[in-house]
Amino acid sequence: MPFVSDDEPDDRESVLRERIEDATSRHYDRTPVIYRKPISIHTAAAAWATQDASAPASLFLTGAIGVGKTHTAWEATRRWLAAHMAHTSRIPSIETWRSTALFDALRHDNRDWDAKALTGQLQRADLLFIDDLAAARVSPTGWTQERLYEIFDERYINGRPVLITCDVLPGQISHIVGDRVASRLGEMCGITLLEGADRRTGAAA
Ligand SMILES: Nc1ncnc2c1ncn2[C@@H]1O[C@H](COP(=O)(O)OP(=O)(O)O)[C@@H](O)[C@H]1O
Ligand SMILES: [Mg+2]
Repeated sequence: MPFVSDDEPDDRESVLRERIEDATSRHYDRTPVIYRKPISIHTAAAAWATQDASAPASLFLTGAIGVGKTHTAWEATRRWLAAHMAHTSRIPSIETWRSTALFDALRHDNRDWDAKALTGQLQRADLLFIDDLAAARVSPTGWTQERLYEIFDERYINGRPVLITCDVLPGQISHIVGDRVASRLGEMCGITLLEGADRRTGAAA
């Protein structure tokens, strides 16, 4: 009988490890440079990322400008990815968008994006992270709000997670995302308030 050492990684295990390393490094490459450093984060964000039994499926990080919402969210996406890959061999897809870029991409007259295809992509992604949801000075048109509704409603009915950062609460963004999206976000998400002073010491977000 051939001797099989416990230390010898079996082929499937090393292929899996390689896939995980690949996915982690692709996510790292897509992360804006200032958000790459590992940081400690609010316990509610950490619990969401590792999907602890008591954690909500989706997370809405709120708090004043400069309190650390975006840094927390990027760190949470890294931990979510690692936790996800510990349970499955499938590499999850993560869509990360600044709200302003998203609303622009979902304009009916945007020639760089096929809004319908993008809507489908954002409905299906394993995780949708939208940064600074209330940042737009001008609210999206009704047409764009309808695409947002399609995205969020599909995720809502299928229990797919979203990660949102926003300096106001879901009840205060109806004029931006529409009543129906604001209402679904309020129901889907655990709301975590980050407190503290502006860490940027006075600069704008
Ligand atoms: N956990 C942290 N530890 C140290 N500095 C942090 C941390 N989180 C954020 N910062 C710093 O705080 C500032 C604001 O962070 P950011 O995430 O952009 O805030 P927000 O998204 O709430 O406006 C940045 O200068 C960042 O370097
Ligand atoms: Mg931010």
